[in-house]
Amino acid sequence: MDTKKLTVWDFKNRKGEEPPITMLTAYDYPWALLVDRAGIDGILVGDSLGMVVLGYPDTVSVTLEEMIHHTRAVARTVKRALVVGDMPFGSYNSSIPAAVENATRLMKEGRADCVKLEGGVDFAPTVKALVKAGIPVQGHIGLTPQTASAMGGFKVQGKSARAAKALLEDAKALEAAGCFSLVLEAVPAPIARLITESVSMPTIGIGAGVHCDGQILVTHDMVGLFDRFTPKFVKQYANIGETIASAIEKYKTEVQNRTFPQPDHSFTMDDEELARLKEALEERQEPVLRKST
Ligand code: KIV
Repeated sequence: MDTKKLTVWDFKNRKGEEPPITMLTAYDYPWALLVDRAGIDGILVGDSLGMVVLGYPDTVSVTLEEMIHHTRAVARTVKRALVVGDMPFGSYNSSIPAAVENATRLMKEGRADCVKLEGGVDFAPTVKALVKAGIPVQGHIGLTPQTASAMGGFKVQGKSARAAKALLEDAKALEAAGCFSLVLEAVPAPIARLITESVSMPTIGIGAGVHCDGQILVTHDMVGLFDRFTPKFVKQYANIGETIASAIEKYKTEVQNRTFPQPDHSFTMDDEELARLKEALEERQEPVLRKST
C-alpha cells in the first residue's frame, strides 16, 4: 500500500471517483494504528469521543482540550490517512474569531490536517473565515448530534420536500464557503444522492445511502465496543466487546484459581544465587524473608 500522506486535495480529487472514500473514527494510538494500517483514507477524531470513550451522555460535554489531547494521539500515529479534528460544541458557535482561534489550536496543538464542524447556511460565514485563515473545513449536515436536542432527538433529517430543500441549500452554502468535503448524516438516500450530484466537493455519508462519494462510521459502533445503543445505519462487522469481556472473565478465573501466571509468564533465577541468598538471610536471622522462601 502507498503510504504517502493524504491531503484535502486528494479528497477533493476523489469526487465522483471509484472506489469511494473510506473514513472511520479513531481517538487514540491503537485504533489509529489499526485504521491507518488498513488503508482507510480518512480518520475523524470525532466528538463521538465523548460518548464512546469518555462515557459522557452526549457530545455536548466534550471540551476543546479533550479534542486536542486525542487528536494529537491520533496524528502522531497516522502515516497515511487524512486526520480530521472535530470542533466540539461551543468552540465555534459563539463568534467567528473564537472559531478561528479554536480551529487553529486543533491544528497547531492537535496536529489535525483539517477540522470538521456541524451546521449549514448559518455557519457558512464561519467556514469562510476558517478557510481564509488557512484551515481546511469538512462540513457536517443532516443529523448534527451536537444540536440533536434542538432537533427533537436523533432523527433522520430531510424527509419532507421542504426539509430536503433546506439541506440542499445548506450543502450549497458550505460549498460556496469553501468546505473541501461534506459529511451527510442520517439523510434519506435519494436526498444524499441529489446533494452528492449537486455539489463539487465529495460527500461522506453516514446513514445516507450508497450514492455518496465516501462513507464513514464510528469505529466503536461497527466493532461492537459501544454498549449504550447502535444506530440503524451501523453495520456491526465484529463484536470485540464480547471477545474482550470473555477474555477478562477468563483472566479473573485463572488468577483466582492460580492457573495464571504459569512458569512461561514468570522469571527464574540461578539456583546457586538463590541458595546464596537463603544462606545470607539465615545468617542474619531474617524471619519474614526466610518464611517466604
Ligand atoms: O463525531 C463523530 O464521530 C461524527 C461522525 C458521526 C461523523 O461526527
